[in-house]
Amino acid sequence: MIGGKQDFRMAVTSDLHLMAKTLYDDGPAFEHLIRSDDGKQTKDSTKLVRQMFLEVHQQRYDALLITGDLTYNGELASHEDLVERLKVVKNYGVPVYVLPGNHDIRRNARSYLGNEIRQVPTVDEEAFAKLYEDFGYGQAVSRDVTSLSYMVKLREDIYLICLDNCSRVSGFVQKYGEIRPDTMNWLERQLRSIKGKSCIVAGHYNLCFHNSMFQQGFIMNNKDEVADLLNRYNVKLYLSGHMHMQHVSSNFGVKEIATSPPTTWPHQYGSLRISSDGDMKYETRQIIMAPKQRNEYHDFYRKNFMMQVFKDLGPRIELTDKEIEVMAEYAADLHLAYFSGNAYQILDEKKESQARKLWLTKASDCFYHRYMESILIEEKINHNLLLL
Ligand SMILES: [Fe+2]
Repeated sequence: MIGGKQDFRMAVTSDLHLMAKTLYDDGPAFEHLIRSDDGKQTKDSTKLVRQMFLEVHQQRYDALLITGDLTYNGELASHEDLVERLKVVKNYGVPVYVLPGNHDIRRNARSYLGNEIRQVPTVDEEAFAKLYEDFGYGQAVSRDVTSLSYMVKLREDIYLICLDNCSRVSGFVQKYGEIRPDTMNWLERQLRSIKGKSCIVAGHYNLCFHNSMFQQGFIMNNKDEVADLLNRYNVKLYLSGHMHMQHVSSNFGVKEIATSPPTTWPHQYGSLRISSDGDMKYETRQIIMAPKQRNEYHDFYRKNFMMQVFKDLGPRIELTDKEIEVMAEYAADLHLAYFSGNAYQILDEKKESQARKLWLTKASDCFYHRYMESILIEEKINHNLLLL
């Protein structure tokens, strides 16, 4: 039962996309990067991650899990910066477990100083495992020799399997996720060896269908094979990220929770509680910050999204400026609610809105119209809370 003395508490986060401060300044190159990005707070990534880590050790979590995309785009300097921050967490007594995302290894890593965008060193698989030796790889009870997957014992009765599901072909990182046959075999051996114990599985790419717009490049190519295997060994929970949104779904009886990034509004992380009899409770916690700061981040994220909508709508003589404004506000309301896991609160209201009718009648050919409609068919559930 949840709430007992023996509960194991793990903080869960993903997609930090941390960028070391030595790699950017206030110049035009970085400004351009920020304006063309998805609204994440890269400028304040180190500040947000530092605050989240502070909360993790102050609240005495038993472990911290980071499900990939640790760095902005695989910069060695960002990995080194993160490692220093993780050492502090570990020194406060919180073991840390990381796994790689598609932005961590062999990337076209760059710095953004003044007007200049320059290539900077990235890392390969060997360097990644060495950098994070104290954060999973050195504590593993088993490591897969063909990937960066590993298994650790969280407690006598609870195991964690961190999967490296970033696909590589002849050493080249691909833009999709999968578990290769050798790793599938390794995974099954591990599950067999711990049969009867609680086991959480984590990876960067998604295991379940979440939204029709997030399929290719998001869900593992062999998702059903992996979900079936996990289900056969009674794994109830798979933790992931990658989509940059807070969302719960399921496949073959396995629940997946994709945790939204700390560096993207609403700036939160997951808190997972596992009882001694295997019951689990996951809920999100917003990073503590001043209300003014939170409002600034919110406005930045919303404005960034609305700019993309304006671009997609383009100049349309059949729409007045007022109508365009109403349509963009509607899209932003839905997008922000959806990505923060709270769309269930506004689905009914938005379905009946005048703004939706405008999209349907005057801009149904737009990408954002299709995206909004894909949200409106969502089940009305709170994606910030899960009891298993
Ligand atoms: Fe990713």
